[in-house]
Amino acid sequence: MTRLRCDPAVIRRDEYKSNRYYLNVMQSSQRDEGRTIDIGGIARQMYVGGSFLGGFIQHHRHRIAPVAKLVDVVPTGSDVLDIGCGGGLLLICLASAGRIQSAHGIDSSSDAIETARKAAIRLGGFIQSPTPNFECRSVEQGLPDGTFRVVCLIDVLHHVSPSAQEKAFRDAVAKVRPGGILLYKDMCDRPLWRAGMNRLHDLVIAKQWIHYVPIESVDRWALDCGLQIELAQQISMLWYGHELRVFRKSGADS
Ligand SMILES: C[S@@+](CC[C@H](N)C(=O)[O-])C[C@H]1O[C@@H](n2cnc3c(N)ncnc32)[C@H](O)[C@@H]1O
Repeated sequence: MTRLRCDPAVIRRDEYKSNRYYLNVMQSSQRDEGRTIDIGGIARQMYVGGSFLGGFIQHHRHRIAPVAKLVDVVPTGSDVLDIGCGGGLLLICLASAGRIQSAHGIDSSSDAIETARKAAIRLGGFIQSPTPNFECRSVEQGLPDGTFRVVCLIDVLHHVSPSAQEKAFRDAVAKVRPGGILLYKDMCDRPLWRAGMNRLHDLVIAKQWIHYVPIESVDRWALDCGLQIELAQQISMLWYGHELRVFRKSGADS
């Protein structure tokens, strides 16, 4: 991947296409291009029992979210913190692929953590390499001690109250070791029909009125924290629109 220096100037929506750094890094795709592992197969093997809806969500998440792409950008041997890990699918897949040295997932939902822990125990029966551990904890309670080579913030910020979103993002950045990455993805707030379809999804599944963070704000916060944008990608899957970022913290990658 090419590292790019980015202008920390505020990026307004009307500058979106002309801004130099966007011209350099923006790619767009209509599908999940990561293809290294069979996410659906792993999900079907690891998420068994439990509620029908819970299992269905894990088994089919790779059809609506670029899970394979996320797995692909995590370097092998990483220690990973997944903030708002849900049922733990990303860490379970990373562990299945032998990519983690250690992995810690936190989520505010005790049901999600129970699902994740069950999957991790089941995974332990299949692999010798490390399995993730999971903890019920909200972002607002503070993040776990230490720093990590990879910190993930995947589809979480739109569930956090607007007044706490920027702090949650900056707290996540603080957990990235020098040279490490913040792997960020959230749902797009444009075009409106895709944003609306996802809002409907969250009303039905999470029973929550969500609050999108414009990706321009996220980029601005990242640049303000001294991160570089290494990858910026828009991905459309069915009627869902995703904004993916790999932000790198400067310093030696340990
Ligand atoms: C759409 S799910 C994404 C789960 C997972 N990151 C994934 O991509 O599969 C959002 C998750 O964020 C969690 N969440 C929402 N607000 C949170 C908060 N304030 N602190 C921690 N987790 C939170 C929810 O419980 C839910 O599991």
